[in-house]
Amino acid sequence: MTAIGIHDIELATAHHVVDLADLAEARGVDPAKFQKGLGQDEFSFPAPDEDVVTMGATAAHRLLERTGTEGVRTLMFATETGVDQSKSTAVYVHKLLDLPGEVRSFELKQACYSGTGALQAAIGIVARNPEERVLVISADVARYEMNSPGEPTQGAGAVAMLVAADPALVEIDPASGVYSEDVDDFWRPNDSTTAVVDGGLSITAYLKSVEKAWKDLEQHGGPSISDIKAFVYHQPFTKMARKAQAHLAQVTGAELNDGALDTGSVYNRRMGNSYTASLYSALTSLLHHEDDLTGKRVGLVSYGSGSVAEMLTGIVKADEDTRRRVRDKVLGMLDGRVRLSVPDYEGLHEKTMPSADDTDTPRVTGSPFRFAGIRGRARHYERV
Ligand code: CAA
Repeated sequence: MTAIGIHDIELATAHHVVDLADLAEARGVDPAKFQKGLGQDEFSFPAPDEDVVTMGATAAHRLLERTGTEGVRTLMFATETGVDQSKSTAVYVHKLLDLPGEVRSFELKQACYSGTGALQAAIGIVARNPEERVLVISADVARYEMNSPGEPTQGAGAVAMLVAADPALVEIDPASGVYSEDVDDFWRPNDSTTAVVDGGLSITAYLKSVEKAWKDLEQHGGPSISDIKAFVYHQPFTKMARKAQAHLAQVTGAELNDGALDTGSVYNRRMGNSYTASLYSALTSLLHHEDDLTGKRVGLVSYGSGSVAEMLTGIVKADEDTRRRVRDKVLGMLDGRVRLSVPDYEGLHEKTMPSADDTDTPRVTGSPFRFAGIRGRARHYERV
């Protein structure tokens, strides 16, 4: 059977950053609650000329500069913060990246899960024709109401992955464990720019799904828990990965690698929740920061409220130097974000962009692509 998986991976985030120490002070909360209680230090916040399309295109552009576009006939964009009810984010990105017309481009949605659905669909396409490669982008802007418990867990980010036969980075194992259940733990109605969430229920639903997906993986020929060197999890806030790992350890009776919770959360602590991108930015962080990983098996735990979960495993192929080659660039990108004061953040949060009226956006982003505005009810993007 052809080995298929993630050939290369790249990350992008938004222009601005909010320091959670500043937010804690403004909200009259002990900063330790955010830093230790939630495991978050900062969150990324988009400029008015940024959205999931600009972040997704930026991550993909960086990736394709290394890999080229040969063999790419499919572009899937996973997001729960899409910009149009009909036209997919993938089509905008297809144009921004100047991809040939002979590419199928479309969007997938199921809360934070759909990046994993896209990865699996991509593996299916490559299994059918190993000459093809698939560009998978996951990107989201996580936004909750101001002064709500979810506020410190906001964030923004994008991950682009090239899925291919004989992958250089992570070979995904054929077996996976899946679980779906209709739960009203988190959703975003069409008339709302912020999510509706039952925080307590979302945590118990997540933990139940981890357990169910693990049991399904076991029943479908997955590896034994002792063969998995490190797990990465969807991280709505990084403490959630600790809760999930503690639950998995309890269910399996295994002692799991808690060090990987630190190496797998370096980026998410600083970007905040990036919904569909969060698991894959956690994987990127693990690959960039965990030493002894080459040739070892890792577990990926995906959860999307509503709810769908999947547990995948894969073997890390790349050596340490290859895994780390863009680590400094990612850290530089995070360091380079422009800090917002709390009043400036609140001003941007309150300002809802029109989705239909003609408008021009101010030039703010330092990314290679920007959302220029709306003309004749159509969104326009441009290279900077
Ligand atoms: N110092 C250190 N820790 C402190 C502290 C202090 N001074 N004060 C409180 N804490 C700790 C608490 O003990 C608690 O830790 P444990 O969970 O380990 O007990 C933690 O800080 C959080 O405090 P609260 O329990 O008071 O919870 P909260 O009111 O701040 O709300 C939340 C937390 C429910 C996660 C909220 O942030 C929220 O609604 N977030 C959005 C929903 C979410 O992320 N759900 C996760 C699962 S759903 C999912 O994964 C999909 C998705 O992406 C949204």
